[in-house]
Parts: sequence; C-alpha cells; structure tokens
Amino acid sequence: MSKVKIAPSLLAADFGNLQRDVEMVNQSEADWHHIDVMDGVFVPNISFGMPVIRAIQKHATKPLDVHLMIVDPDRYIKAFADLGASVLSVHYEACNHLHRSLQAIKAEGMKAGVAINPHTNISLLEDIIKEIDLVCLMSVNPGFGGQSFIENTYDKVRSLRELINNKRAGTLIEIDGGVTSKNAKALVEAGADVLVAGSFVFKSEDPTQTIQELKVLAG
Ligand code: DX5
Ligand code: ZN
Repeated sequence: MSKVKIAPSLLAADFGNLQRDVEMVNQSEADWHHIDVMDGVFVPNISFGMPVIRAIQKHATKPLDVHLMIVDPDRYIKAFADLGASVLSVHYEACNHLHRSLQAIKAEGMKAGVAINPHTNISLLEDIIKEIDLVCLMSVNPGFGGQSFIENTYDKVRSLRELINNKRAGTLIEIDGGVTSKNAKALVEAGADVLVAGSFVFKSEDPTQTIQELKVLAG
C-alpha cells in the first residue's frame, strides 16, 4: 500500500449520476472524496451546498475531504462536522483569525486544513504550521475544474516540505488543480502527500483505471 493519497474531486463528476460516481470512488483505490464548496464570492463560481453533500455522504464509504472556497467559513464549521466531513479546509485568504478557525475545526473532531492560493507565499504559514493538519496547495486559481497546472507549484511544495520538516510539524501536503499522470510523480518527489484530481479522473474513459494509474505513479 502506497502512502500517498489520491482524492478524486467530485466537482468533475456527473451530477445526474452522483450516486454512481461516488460508488465508483468507493470501489476504486482512491483514499478520500474531495468535495469543493464555492460561494460565488470568494471565487467567481458556485458549486453545490449542504443537500448535495448530504447525498454524497449517504453513499460515500471513504473520508470526506471538504475544501471550502467561501468567505467567513467559521459560520459553517459545525454544519460541515454534522455532514460528516473528516478534513475541513478553509482558505488562508478568507480568514481574519486563522488560528481561531483551526481550533474551531478541531474542536468539532475534524482534521484542520488550510488552502492557499497560487499567489500566497509559503512563509506566511510559518507561525501557524504546527496547528495545521493539511495544507491544500492550490496549483490553479480556485473556482473551476479543468484548468492547467501552474508550474511554480513545484517550488512551493519544496518550500512547504522544508518548513514542515524544520518545524517538526505533522502536516500533510495536498495538491489541488490540474493534477494528471504527467505531473503526479514529480509532485510526490517534491514532497506531496495527497493528490486531488477532478477532470483527469472523471473525464477519462475508465475513471477507476485512471485512479489506479495515479496511485501507481504516486508510489
Ligand atoms: C478548484 C477545485 C479543485 C478542482 C480540481 O477550484 O478546488 O478541487 O475540482 O479539478 P481539476 O483536477 O479538474 O483541476
Ligand atoms: Zn478543491
């Protein structure tokens, strides 16, 4: 069993066949279900909300990795705990009191994640890294699936790995956006622990096989 996790993003699933696609992930070698919540304010797009996540949760057998692309996420921390989220990530750029938000997430029994936009420097996490269970490094500008991978991400993964090691933190590094079989291996070599993949999985001919392919590449 490889230690690198694969988290298919349900944003790219066929919403008319959501149960089928969630069950495909259940039966695949994927580790988590990645769930993208967008509010049309923090990002220029609206994805889905509580009723859809409840439907996903009903069928999902693997941990729910929820990525909040919303302003003022503190308002909904308890709601996402009640929906069964295992990991809850808030955006660095959307939190005025990140330390407090992370404590609130953990108090609800979830792993606390922080997502950072492509323009946000890793050094800004220096004083908070020990509190973070997972950093979701955005390798595209959040808001849409199917965008191309930003190459500068490799340097960011390496800097983040160095910061985590220096501070002796147990933080996982997740990469989100534009992940394919072309960059998966290099991302893991740079220090990634979790790979999110939306379009590459769900738009492929055989999503189960594509997940397996990513799992093998990730090693
Ligand atoms: C982007 C989302 C991603 C997205 C990834 O805002 O956070 O999780 O669904 O999709 P792909 O893999 O298609 O870039
Ligand atoms: Zn995401």
